[in-house]
Amino acid sequence: MMSRGAKRIARSVLGHVGPRYFSTATARGGAASDAAALRSYVKGTASTFFYGPANGSEKAVVTWMRFPVLGSRNASTVALGEKPQDEEKQVQGGSSGGATGGGGGNGNKGIVSYWGVEPAKVTKEDGTEWRWNCFRPWETYKADLTIDLKKHHAPVTFLDKVAYWTVKSLRYPTDLFFQRRYGCRAMMLETVAAVPGMVGGMLLHCKSLRRFEHSGGWIKALLEEAENERMHLMTFMEVSQPRWYERALVFTVQGVFFNAYFLTYLVSPKLAHRIVGYLEEEAIHSYTEFLKELDKGNIENVPAPAIAIDYWRLPKDSTLRDVVMIVRADEAHHRDVNHFASDIHYQGHELKEAPAPIGYH
Ligand SMILES: [Fe+2]
Ligand SMILES: [Fe+2]
Repeated sequence: MMSRGAKRIARSVLGHVGPRYFSTATARGGAASDAAALRSYVKGTASTFFYGPANGSEKAVVTWMRFPVLGSRNASTVALGEKPQDEEKQVQGGSSGGATGGGGGNGNKGIVSYWGVEPAKVTKEDGTEWRWNCFRPWETYKADLTIDLKKHHAPVTFLDKVAYWTVKSLRYPTDLFFQRRYGCRAMMLETVAAVPGMVGGMLLHCKSLRRFEHSGGWIKALLEEAENERMHLMTFMEVSQPRWYERALVFTVQGVFFNAYFLTYLVSPKLAHRIVGYLEEEAIHSYTEFLKELDKGNIENVPAPAIAIDYWRLPKDSTLRDVVMIVRADEAHHRDVNHFASDIHYQGHELKEAPAPIGYH
């Protein structure tokens, strides 16, 4: 028996806790649904209310909101390869008395602890197991090293000049900070270079949704660029480890650059793409300097990282020099894509009107 004081305290606590842990949902189904809901809550299982046998009345019932989130977090923190003991405990709907989950009485199964989807086993051409989860064999390619590295877009219009001098002015502090540490410089700059493609792709994605229209492949092309730049980073971090203050710098620069580029793209995509075009021209220059230092012996020409060998389908005995050559060619391709995108806008068209250069490597 609870004393009157204890009841008052309990009511008061529930009054405060209730709004945070419960939300109201409308369910039909009467007392049976309410009872099932209560049981599932008590057991700490996820519960969603579905239409049951209609009794003509709608009842506001409490639905458990917070605990499923905690539950899924606990499940997802299990180390890879270990199987949680309660993995895929299934609660049958309806008569079993548990949460009806995916559809009580419909033959669907509600799963209490949902642990992942088994990735498909993939092998390389030689039959050995594919070791990378971050990319698959069909995403790899042989880079086109014949691309013209000297192409340069002449800044003629006012916006072009703004783009050009914005990029040029960013080069001085970069040169000052990194000096001749090209390995570190490449790694740090790739953390920035992978942002524009993702921002542009995201904005085009949202535009496509808003306007119910195709993108002409540009979403994919820009996201491909972002992924390619990120793979540059994944490669260079194998040969150069960032120090704590460099990590702090990346953190800060990303916060500023992401937002600045986002706003620029919203206001003027042609300026945004032109800036990236010039950034890529600078990247080609940086990698050319990197190659010079490798050739002089100032930077050790170590074996190519395994991730690079698989991603660019390189021979097993490839070196860092081979990787830098390929990355430089990638940057030249990004340069072309972004200057092209800017030119489409300059011609008064939208990107979707010109087919995107998907898979341009
Ligand atoms: Fe890059
Ligand atoms: Fe690039």
